Amino acid sequence: MEATTSLLDAAAVGDLVMLDPLSEEALLRTLQERFSREEIYTYIGEVVISVNPYKPLPIYTPEKVEEYHNCNFFAVKPHIYAIADDAYCSLRDRDRDQCILITGESGAGKTEASKLVMSYVAAVSSKGEEVDKVKEQLLQSNPVLEAFGNAKTIRNDNSSRFGKYMDVEFDFKGDPLGGVITNCQCCPLPSPPRWSQPPLSCSYTHPPFPPQTLTDLLEKSRIVRHVKGERNFHIFYQLLAGGSAQLLQKLKLRPDCSYYGYLNREKSVLPGMDDAANFRAMQDAMAIIGFTPTEVTALLEVTAVVLKLGNVELSSCFQASGMEASSITEPRELQEISQLIGLDPSTLEQALCSRTVKVRDESVLTALSVSQGYYGRDALAKNIYSRLFDWLVNRINTSIKVKPGKQRKVMGVLDIYGFEIFQDNGFEQFIINYCNEKLQQIFILMTLKEEQEEYVREVMLTPKGCGSGEPQWDGEAPQTAPQHVPSSPPPTGRATQWQEGGEGFGIPVSAAGRPLPAQHQQGVPMEQGLCMTPLCSQGIKWTPVEFFDNSIICDLIENSKVGILAMLDEECLRPGTVNEDTFITKLNQIFASHKRYESKETLNAKHVTDISLPLRCFRIHHYAGKVTYNVTGFIEKNNDLLFRDLSQAMWAARHTLLRSLFPEGDPQRPSLKLPPTTGSQFKASVATLMKNLYSKNPNYIRCIKPNDTKTAMLFTPDLVLAQVRYLGLMENVRVRRAGYAFRQLYQPFLKRYKMLSRRTWPHWTGSDREGTEVLLAELKFPSEELAYGHTKIFIRSPRTLFDLEKRRQQRVAELATLIQAMFRGWRCRKQYQLMRKSQILISAWFRGHAQRNRYKQMKRSVLLLQAYARGWKSRRLLRELKVQRRRHLAASTISAYWKGYQTRRTYRRYFRSDARTRLSNFIYRRMVQKYLMGLQKNLPPMAVLDRTWPPAPYKFLSDANQELKGIFYRWKCKKYREQLSPQQRAVLQDKLCASELFKDKKALYAQSLQQPFRGEYLGLTQNRKYQKLQAVAKDKLVMAEAVQKVNRANGKTVPRLLLLTTEHLVLADPKAAQPKMVLSLSDIRGASVSRFSDGLLALHLKETSTAGGKGDLLLVSPHLIELVTRLHQTLMDATAQALPLSIADQYAGLGAWPVGAWPTWAFPEGAWSGRGRDRVCWEGRGGNQVAHWAG
Ligand SMILES: Nc1ncnc2c1ncn2[C@@H]1O[C@H](COP(=O)(O)OP(=O)(O)OP(=O)(O)O)[C@@H](O)[C@H]1O
Ligand SMILES: [Mg+2]
Repeated sequence: MEATTSLLDAAAVGDLVMLDPLSEEALLRTLQERFSREEIYTYIGEVVISVNPYKPLPIYTPEKVEEYHNCNFFAVKPHIYAIADDAYCSLRDRDRDQCILITGESGAGKTEASKLVMSYVAAVSSKGEEVDKVKEQLLQSNPVLEAFGNAKTIRNDNSSRFGKYMDVEFDFKGDPLGGVITNCQCCPLPSPPRWSQPPLSCSYTHPPFPPQTLTDLLEKSRIVRHVKGERNFHIFYQLLAGGSAQLLQKLKLRPDCSYYGYLNREKSVLPGMDDAANFRAMQDAMAIIGFTPTEVTALLEVTAVVLKLGNVELSSCFQASGMEASSITEPRELQEISQLIGLDPSTLEQALCSRTVKVRDESVLTALSVSQGYYGRDALAKNIYSRLFDWLVNRINTSIKVKPGKQRKVMGVLDIYGFEIFQDNGFEQFIINYCNEKLQQIFILMTLKEEQEEYVREVMLTPKGCGSGEPQWDGEAPQTAPQHVPSSPPPTGRATQWQEGGEGFGIPVSAAGRPLPAQHQQGVPMEQGLCMTPLCSQGIKWTPVEFFDNSIICDLIENSKVGILAMLDEECLRPGTVNEDTFITKLNQIFASHKRYESKETLNAKHVTDISLPLRCFRIHHYAGKVTYNVTGFIEKNNDLLFRDLSQAMWAARHTLLRSLFPEGDPQRPSLKLPPTTGSQFKASVATLMKNLYSKNPNYIRCIKPNDTKTAMLFTPDLVLAQVRYLGLMENVRVRRAGYAFRQLYQPFLKRYKMLSRRTWPHWTGSDREGTEVLLAELKFPSEELAYGHTKIFIRSPRTLFDLEKRRQQRVAELATLIQAMFRGWRCRKQYQLMRKSQILISAWFRGHAQRNRYKQMKRSVLLLQAYARGWKSRRLLRELKVQRRRHLAASTISAYWKGYQTRRTYRRYFRSDARTRLSNFIYRRMVQKYLMGLQKNLPPMAVLDRTWPPAPYKFLSDANQELKGIFYRWKCKKYREQLSPQQRAVLQDKLCASELFKDKKALYAQSLQQPFRGEYLGLTQNRKYQKLQAVAKDKLVMAEAVQKVNRANGKTVPRLLLLTTEHLVLADPKAAQPKMVLSLSDIRGASVSRFSDGLLALHLKETSTAGGKGDLLLVSPHLIELVTRLHQTLMDATAQALPLSIADQYAGLGAWPVGAWPTWAFPEGAWSGRGRDRVCWEGRGGNQVAHWAG
């Protein structure tokens, strides 16, 4: 609401269309009033006027961005963000390519405005890693381009010295994809690289290309010259101030601006501008854009070369022929340049001081005078820099360009240098002002002329008459041809009435005094404003508005046959003497009577004296004012010649970047084609730019400079008034006021708003126009607010449009709600139907399942019942049958008893009374007899080991049978014993004793069963050697055999003869047959053997005995079982005490064994080989020692 109030604020209306009264003073006052309130933006319809505040204002905050995001243009306070948002939304939502044309004079704030637009679009478009990177790259192109393309001028400390046109490309969602910077050179010129063949000399080359860029838009003359108080391009100062000592050393530069000739040898520090910080920002920006460190270094090296070229001094000398020549005064700078670019210094020196001239197919080297030498040096510096700038733009484009194939929408932002009027205006000002003139033409064409023409077109082609809603004409074809108006300017500067045949060209009229259609006006020069009588057609009342049409100025400059640029080209290419004098003479002749051209000569011809117009100058009445151009340098700059020797020298350098800038220097690729001149290249570029701009929907930002001193918030009315005048703002307001704020073809209009009427929504079957009429009639807008053209609807005030939009928004919201409701209903219905179907299916399945279960249960129950019933029936039957059977049995028994009783009664008298007992006894005896008789015949064999016995034939005989079995066995054994001899009996007794001692206790026992116990194994009686031993044994010998005695010291065994007598146990040496040890049997305390099949025997001796003091006796006997058995028997016989025998796995030795040795021993089964070589070994020490056999 605040915004709308601002638009209508009588003292300072936001939209100048609402101005009342409409006058220059009121307009100026409004601008000033708003400016004093720090409201620097004002509208004229959709055109934004921006007055430079020269101080930062708090109106570009993120909150502001939010406020203007998706705003309604007329619903918010005038702001640059509003137009940026309008353009962006139109691009995103309506798919219309946009261009933002920012115009105004130097210092008016165009570059700042373009940056604000870009940053706004970046802020409101969606976020994301990729999108943010693109945005950052697009935004960061500014510091880089500004460093190389901007400079301080008297008007602006950061003046753009090049024209920049940036196409930002978006995807269908409105996200930035990338962009193309075309430096106003939207047209890549098709001309291939070529070098010139100037009229008199063949030793020049033109810049070989503008590849993507139009370098001529860069003010390259600034490289070599700039007026006092201005500066060269920022990059030089930034490099010297911000470059590190290491970098400067590498580039062979000194951090001192006053050292360099091209920087006017003066210190130039700008207040408020930190060159060093800007240099760092530029380096950061380059890194973000994607420049590699190598590229940055190469770029700075070439920049340093340009700077150092300005310090190459020449001095004159004379050749032998007396001709003047030049030479390098101080070779150091030249050498450093040569080192930087990798070129032989002599080659560079030769290229700077001489040139090759072709004379009749022969090349001759001619020395250059000092002035020619300086010309060549400067031309080289300018060419290097401008081509470097081209390279820079192309390099940025490479980073930000969009991949081909993607569908894009484009928003172009044009920031071109502003209109300039200096004290001394040269070729640069001429082309800059030409460019601004063309932009003004676009503005005029699109906002003023086209607007008026459109009204006329729409009105004229209206088929019916006018008045009270009726059309005025019947649409008949115009009767007369277009009427041309004399071309002299009006004395007042305003056009006379068009109907009166006044000056200027306007819209032609028919015989009936009506304007002709636009197509009839084609080619009609329209120099001056026009004023038409009010026309009325179907509500459109239109009073044509005067405005200044600058086509005549554009034509003066760009006419391909007689334009100033064409004349300049003709002079440049003409053989013979060519200089600025011949050029201006020619201009004076051709434009002698042109209203917009003046020179001393043409004024003299009209007897007008003007001392402000010197000789060699011409003056053009531009739309923004009169500018006097000095033709000096026009031809040279238009040719933009570079000595061919210099381009060849640059091509010969080893510096890759520099070399690539001079492809025409390649001697292998000479082209004799004449290159286009600077002027013609520029003209072509401007033409393409215009075409590009025409193809897009324009949005205007018209910048105004409020003072000449760059003072913050200072408003100089005169200065602003001048700009208001030449920018045509008054005409702009008039056209907007006279006409309608909004117009649109019926078809898109109806499409957009048809939802506002029930009759047109959702489908209208009639024509678009009828639909629009029906729609607007229903909305009941005042009739003066609307007008119906032939193809378009016109709406007078923005408020009506705003109202329409508001209603549309409400209706769209309603429709959206309706659609949502319908959709939700549909979705719920669908869901309900689905759920119902599912429920029916589930319940069908469930019911089926339940019925099946019930059926199964019933079936089971029935079967159970059946089973019970059958069982019950069967049982009943069984019971009956059983009863019957028992009855039968009972009957049989009864009858048997009865019969028995009858029989016994009958036969009783025939039997004795104990017959029954006698019979049974008889039967019993008979059975026993039979059993015993059978047993006698089947007695088992007599072998004692056979334990078989026949089974009892009757159960009552089993006890007797068992008893008989035992008796028989014992009897068998008795019989066996009785037949034994006394020796056999003794042997068996020994065996029996052995069995009692060892059976199931020692594994060796099983082996001993088969071996008879012989007792005497030595043959004492036969061997005479053993006589002594015989004596020892006498008649008491029990057993004699050879044993092994285990040595206590080392476990080794020694053979011994063992004699067991009824009293002693003797161990004798087998060799000497001498008793070694004689033990009384009473000394033996016990014996120990292992469980295994070894023959080891430990005899535990009483410690009190003689031998017992040394400990136990360990023997290995081949007849261990027999030895121990006999020892046991002998001891029993001698002492009536059994031998204490221990059979175990381990043996705890006693006696005088070495300390720590033989505490225990263990002999695993099988360790005993029995081969006689076995010996006892022990392992380990202390308590863990284990003895074992070793074979
Ligand atoms: N909206 C703004 N707010 C604050 N200061 C501004 C604004 N616009 C411009 N300025 C100031 O004005 C100076 C000149 O602006 P700018 O460089 O945009 O002018 P220009 O129209 O591009 O000039 P040229 O044609 O010489 O390039 C800026 O450096 C800045 O100080
Ligand atoms: Mg600028």
